[in-house]
Amino acid sequence: MRILLVSSAFNSLTQRVYTELRAIGHHVGVELALGDDMLRARVMAFQPELILAPMLTTAIPEDIWSAHTVLIVHPGPEGDRGPSSLDWAIHEGAHHWGVTVLQAIDEMDAGPIWASVPFTITACGKSDLYRNEVADAAVEAVLLAVDRFAAGQFKPEPLDYLRPGVLGRHRPYHSQQTRKIDWAADDTRTVLRKLRAADSQPGVLDELYGREYYLHGGHSEDKLRGVPGSVIATRDGSICRATADGAVWLPELRPRRMAGRPTFKLPATDALGSDLPAAIPEIPVTPAMASLRDTWSELRYFEAGAVGYLQFSFPGGAMSTRQCLSLLEAFRQACARPIEVLALGPARDFFSNGIHLNVIEAAEDPARESWLNINAMNDLVEAILTTTDKLVVSVLPGNAAAGGVMLALAADEVWCRESVVLNPHYRLMGLHGSEYWTYTLPRRVGATTAERLTREALPVGARDAAALGLVDRVFPGSADIFWNSIRQQLQELPGTPELANRLMVKKQHRAADELIKPLGAYRSEELAYMRENFLSESYHELRRDFVHKARATRTPSHLLS
Ligand code: COA
Repeated sequence: MRILLVSSAFNSLTQRVYTELRAIGHHVGVELALGDDMLRARVMAFQPELILAPMLTTAIPEDIWSAHTVLIVHPGPEGDRGPSSLDWAIHEGAHHWGVTVLQAIDEMDAGPIWASVPFTITACGKSDLYRNEVADAAVEAVLLAVDRFAAGQFKPEPLDYLRPGVLGRHRPYHSQQTRKIDWAADDTRTVLRKLRAADSQPGVLDELYGREYYLHGGHSEDKLRGVPGSVIATRDGSICRATADGAVWLPELRPRRMAGRPTFKLPATDALGSDLPAAIPEIPVTPAMASLRDTWSELRYFEAGAVGYLQFSFPGGAMSTRQCLSLLEAFRQACARPIEVLALGPARDFFSNGIHLNVIEAAEDPARESWLNINAMNDLVEAILTTTDKLVVSVLPGNAAAGGVMLALAADEVWCRESVVLNPHYRLMGLHGSEYWTYTLPRRVGATTAERLTREALPVGARDAAALGLVDRVFPGSADIFWNSIRQQLQELPGTPELANRLMVKKQHRAADELIKPLGAYRSEELAYMRENFLSESYHELRRDFVHKARATRTPSHLLS
């Protein structure tokens, strides 16, 4: 079927729907909703049999929805309406929620229902929930609706609040007034709910040291306590604030105003700068200790038998120079342990999206910071590539892009959750890319496919990635089910002759590859291009647009198939 996806942005859910529909043979076009006339022209040119809107913040014009079936994905259960569905669900502590696919009519979110799929809410930030549980339910609902549409017999159910099971309702915009934290009165659970309902956008507006900031993140803390509202500690760029009965960690802040310039999210201590009193202690936690505690940490490490697990989690999957170096340090420490297998990856959500474009944007010399960041990333990748006495497995419960995909490819095995979307390319940021991708990508998929993937700059779903050889294994289920399967599989490896043989072959291959072309040569060739990129205005413009979330003015040409 010819299906046109109309979306406010080619975001994670739109990419996921795009990969899923293409995988089952549909001809899928994409149009960003940037104006009614542009949309009309695209509909006319594409001649869709069905229009599908995975993420839309504006209305589809009547002449389009009256001439075509237009299905809208709404992140709420049947009957739920309004622009802040997930915010309300998290704010009110709902355990169960849903995604509904409904037909566009003149009233927003009130059209006949084509499919609705429930899901369980996990305690995490809204955008994390959106990229995972919501996306999984949305894809199930979309595929069901598309099947029903294709069958031709299905009559969508008109929205009827008297029908049993229609439990949602219309809710207003979730304003900053509702989000406001009363630090003296709100307990930790309430504070976390407010923070998570606002994460990653728009954040909770609050005041720190006389200035207004949007607070981002929200993680519990088991030990530290202090005067409610006060900042009581820092850790790796994050700040810890006391609540009425405990404390929470805030990894990122966005100043509300900055001398007339647009603002963007930064690690909290960077955003506060010299306003942060020097007396506030930095309270580190080791990755091993963090895995035993209910506290915030970017890194956690634990072992089960001869398998080590190094879990990392960076907001937005972005890895600054500091974060690359601390992961490298933790990786080296894990490699010094008496383990045979090392699993690398987060407990859930993004694996990595490469170098930290916001931190680079905020640097005094962004070109220099880009250089430091890519070199720190390369040091990490090199350490993984040259580990020959252990099997290293990249574990991807969530998406990865650009250098983040190439980071995963440095390992011996790449194991992915079925819902993962990969973007194995750098072109959209005006970069040639490094992370030894010119060694690892063709090694896995062949030179022709590597060239196509990096040139087309399109997302690749997990199953397609497995078919291409980009990933080795794909596992179904939620992040928890996925990790259980991973643990079971990994536990079976140590002590087996297969693993011993695999490690021997790995060592031989690495030595043989080094003779053909040393890793250092790949690195210096890639970095020669990157040096040029970092001096070019187009990279700085593309990065600025990304960091400042500049609205596209037309659908990017690589999506106009
Ligand atoms: N640096 C800084 N922030 C990043 C980032 C990066 N490399 N990659 C993603 N983010 C942030 C986004 O700004 C966004 O922040 P927000 O939640 O405050 O809005 C968040 O992570 C999620 O990204 P978003 O773009 O909303 O998610 P998506 O799933 O729709 O798209 C990507 C994911 C990876 C395709 C897109 O974020 C992207 O293109 N990232 C840049 C990748 C890149 O070029 N890296 C540098 C070269 S190695």
